[in-house]
Order: sequence, then structure tokens, then C-alpha cells
Amino acid sequence: MKSLATALALIAPVQAGLRFPCSTLTFQRLDPVVEPGALPAAHLHHIVGGNAFNATMEGDVGERATCTTCQMSEDFSNYWTATLYFKHPTNGSYHRVPVLPVQPLLGGSQGAQGGLTVYYSQFDLSRDNLKQQPIKAFPPGFRMTVGSPTRSSTPQVGLRYQCLQGQNRGREMPDFPTTPCSGGIFVTQHFPACWDGKNLDSPDHQSHMYNTIRLDGFTNAPACPSSHPIRVPQVAYETVWDTSKFNSMWPSGTPNPFVWSFEGTSGFGNHADYMFGWKGDSLQRAMDKSECFYDGCGSIKKQAMNIASQCTVPEMVKEETVGWLTKLPGR
Ligand SMILES: *[C@@H]1O[C@H](CO)[C@@H](O)[C@H](O)[C@H]1NC(C)=O
Ligand SMILES: *[C@@H]1O[C@H](CO)[C@@H](O)[C@H](O)[C@H]1NC(C)=O
Repeated sequence: MKSLATALALIAPVQAGLRFPCSTLTFQRLDPVVEPGALPAAHLHHIVGGNAFNATMEGDVGERATCTTCQMSEDFSNYWTATLYFKHPTNGSYHRVPVLPVQPLLGGSQGAQGGLTVYYSQFDLSRDNLKQQPIKAFPPGFRMTVGSPTRSSTPQVGLRYQCLQGQNRGREMPDFPTTPCSGGIFVTQHFPACWDGKNLDSPDHQSHMYNTIRLDGFTNAPACPSSHPIRVPQVAYETVWDTSKFNSMWPSGTPNPFVWSFEGTSGFGNHADYMFGWKGDSLQRAMDKSECFYDGCGSIKKQAMNIASQCTVPEMVKEETVGWLTKLPGR
């Protein structure tokens, strides 16, 4: 383990916004936003967050959940993405790719298991600019998605891949890496920052939100339009898919053998789902705190990641998802 000073140096000069790890809660074929009630849903997801996660989720999730895999212990939200699989280039069998916590972890977050890192930024990663731009936390019942599994050609800003060589992340790319990544494939999803202020959801789970983001990375989103005037936290996820043990089965010069769990061979199908579940006004308190540093905001509670990692949900879709499979779950 590197010293904290070294870890901080790697990410300096970051001083605004929440950033925290969440351990893996479950891998299941459930999607309470896009396919509420479906047991099972169409494709496998990697899910983190609170234990109120279920096939159907309505109302105040933060009041119902009793534990969370996230470091911020009042955050019972759920965060999920499709799952990455390795498709064997010669025999066609699939194997689920494991996840690793995003490095560096800070502030007592060792003990994270798999999972993903969540960001709620007010402006960008070095300023909060709260005087210029107040941020309104999401209300109970709020949900949204970004990206789409059916997108197969045009890239979307904020949905990116990086080919990790050790801890070196390299450049952001709109599609899957085309050569092996010794440290795994790093996937980022940025959500829109503008809300219509009325609807907790919309038929496509996206049109109640408006994406003004034109640049990749953790930049401030341009001003919100009058149709979607309410500025909400800029939510982003980062996941490290540990592809390293499959690299020796990827013959040099052949196409990328990794696929998303909806049989997505194009990286443009990158997408993510969000279900708000912070307890009471805890997220609003965190967003109102100026110079709130990265891993914590004084006014909100944290837990040790070895405690967070103990939070579980029952296996609701009882199926094998990890060993060598002749087809993807649900396909
Ligand atoms: C999930 O929902 C079902 C049906 O409403 C319910 O019986 C079950 O207790 C819920 N599970 C959890 C973990 O909340
Ligand atoms: C495909 O190859 C993997 C790795 O060698 C092996 O474990 C798996 O059983 C093979 N699948 C089939 C259907 O032979």
C-alpha cells in the first residue's frame, strides 16, 4: 500500500465533490428502472448500493434500506451497469470478468470488494462554485439512465473506456480497447446534470434529464436549458473490469473478445442506471458544504468498507453467471 501522501499526490489538485467506493452488492438479472417487475430482466447487471434493491422499487428507498455497500453510510441508492464478459475467440464460451476497486482508495476505504466508484460533483473536481451555482439533490423515487444497449455506432460524450497498463489509465476512448490491457478495462459513465424539476422518471428514463455535457472528464456542465432548469449533482461511475487473466486467450491481431452482457460487441452500448436512495436530506447537506473534500464531507456519515462489504441482498434470479457458459444469462 502506498502512503496516503503518495495516493493524494496522484489525484491532486482535487478538492470538491463527493467521490467514494461502493463494493459489489450483487450480480443479477434485475433492472427496476428499465424493466420493473421483470424477474428475470433481459441481461445481467453489476449492482452496488443499498439492500432495498429489488425487481420493483418505488417510493423512498432511503427509508426502506437497512445497509449499503457504499462508504457513505446514509447512501442507500443503487448504481448499476451491464456486466462485462470474455467471449472465448475459438470455442465461443463466455466467462464473466471480475471487478476490482478503483485505485487509489482514500480515507479508510480499504476493504472494498469489487464494486465501482461513485462521484457527485457540483462543478468540477477542483471547485464547487456553490455561490454561482447551487445544486439541488434528487428527490425520493428519482431514477435515470444514461446511454443505451442498442446504440451501436455513434459515441456519446461521457461514456468512455480506458486501457489500463498497470495503474496508468491512458486516453479515454469511445469504444472497447483493441489490444490487451494488462491492468484491466476502465469504464466511465457520466450522467446529465439538468433535470426538468417535475418528473421522477420518464418513459425512456432519460427525457426528464438534459445532457449539456460536451466534453469528457469531470468538467462543469454548461448551463441548463429552460426545459430542464434544475441543476442536480453531476453523477459519474467508474468501474475496473479485471480482464488481465483473459489476455493470454486473446490471440494477437484478433478483434476485441470482450462483450457486454446484452451480447454487446460494440463498446457504444455502454450504459448505466441510477436509483436515488440517500436517507433524508443527507445528499443535500453534502452538496451544500463548500470545499467538501473528495472522500467525505464532514456533515455526512461514513462507514469502513469491510463493514459496507457485508451488506447483501438475496439471490432472486437463481442462475449461474460466472463460470464458463455456453451462452450469456438470458440470451
Ligand atoms: C422484493 O420484493 C418482493 C415482492 O414485493 C418482496 O417479497 C421481497 O421481500 C423484496 N425483497 C427485498 C430484499 O426487499
Ligand atoms: C473454452 O475454453 C475454455 C478455456 O480453455 C474452457 O475452460 C471451456 O471449457 C471451453 N469451452 C468449451 C465449450 O469447450
